[in-house]
Amino acid sequence: MRRIEFHDREQERKEIMDILDTEPSLITFVYGPINSGKTALITHLIEELPEDYVVFYINLRGKFISNYDDFVRALFKLDREKKEYKEILKTISEVSLKSLKFTGIPITEGVLDLFFREKTHDDVFEFLEDYFMEIAENKVPVLVVDELQKIGDVRINTYLIYELFNLFIRLTKELHLCHVFAVTSDSLFIERVYSEAMLSGRCRYLVVDDFDLEMTMEFLDKYNFSDMEKDVAWKYCGGKPVCLVELVNRGRREEKAREMLGIRTGQIEGLIEDAKEFGYKISYGEKEIVLNDGDILKGLERFGDEEYLKAGELPKPIKLGLIKANILFLDPVKQIIKPQSRLNLLAIREVIKNA
Ligand SMILES: Nc1ncnc2c1ncn2[C@@H]1O[C@H](COP(=O)(O)OP(=O)(O)OP(=O)(O)O)[C@@H](O)[C@H]1O
Ligand SMILES: [Mg+2]
Repeated sequence: MRRIEFHDREQERKEIMDILDTEPSLITFVYGPINSGKTALITHLIEELPEDYVVFYINLRGKFISNYDDFVRALFKLDREKKEYKEILKTISEVSLKSLKFTGIPITEGVLDLFFREKTHDDVFEFLEDYFMEIAENKVPVLVVDELQKIGDVRINTYLIYELFNLFIRLTKELHLCHVFAVTSDSLFIERVYSEAMLSGRCRYLVVDDFDLEMTMEFLDKYNFSDMEKDVAWKYCGGKPVCLVELVNRGRREEKAREMLGIRTGQIEGLIEDAKEFGYKISYGEKEIVLNDGDILKGLERFGDEEYLKAGELPKPIKLGLIKANILFLDPVKQIIKPQSRLNLLAIREVIKNA
């Protein structure tokens, strides 16, 4: 089995290390198109951190959260060996040989039972504040929540996400206790975050986009791509790591690339066909928007000879629809919309040609 080693990301790595080198003061939102390598970058960095950091990494992917108990389960991880949660904190603070990495926040059965019984998230948030405060006496806690958009719409009395943002603001700007990174590839969620008044001046944004040309060529060189193969890879995959990895692992690279394009083109055509038959429905807040095939094509046609548009250039319903369908990516910071990948751009152009 060929192992693909982590590639480059020097610039993003430096930006994150600079953040970790200073006192926590802002929440960092890490965003970027689908499959651009956000999780790979964060998990790689976690591995490399020096011994004074304690990282709590929580990935909400695949977690179904609709109520308080689900939320508690997603955050915490039971440590069956310890009776007292103070013991856990003591271990975390005293281990100095290497930096500690946890998936989930270690906790004892007693505390977990209490949360399940009390059913109020005030307790959870207060508990977390105390927890990080104790750790911060000896170490630098780092909290990473990946796929944060999973709880974007969860309501438990009020929207859970606002309570979480409050905790993040407490931990960073107010108490300077703990670094907080929130990772997402959901452009509509990051747009909401970007225009959220309560976060204004309290967070920063870090984009992790696909590799640029130079990074891509260096990556392909590692796997001995010929010049022709490199051209094919860049033409079809651009710098999308997951797509490049697929080509690394395959023979007959051009054939494979064409096949990937064919699949994506077919998927988009399928979406248009469904829209024609049934209407393509998306919910936006309380509203339901229905797009027909003509609407979708009209949006796609804008990419016939453009690679990206200004965010305001597409009518809102079409923009929302194509983003929800994971065809387009919106960058709220740069205020641009572009296809999620080079492959998507080519597929869009095939669809326009075939229409
Ligand atoms: N810097 C890198 N070096 C080598 N491979 C990478 C790199 N970044 C990403 N990859 C590859 O691309 C795949 C997708 O990356 P990853 O899951 O990190 O993307 P993501 O942006 O978190 O995706 P999502 O939008 O689904 O959250 C990884 O499984 C890995 O194989
Ligand atoms: Mg990810």
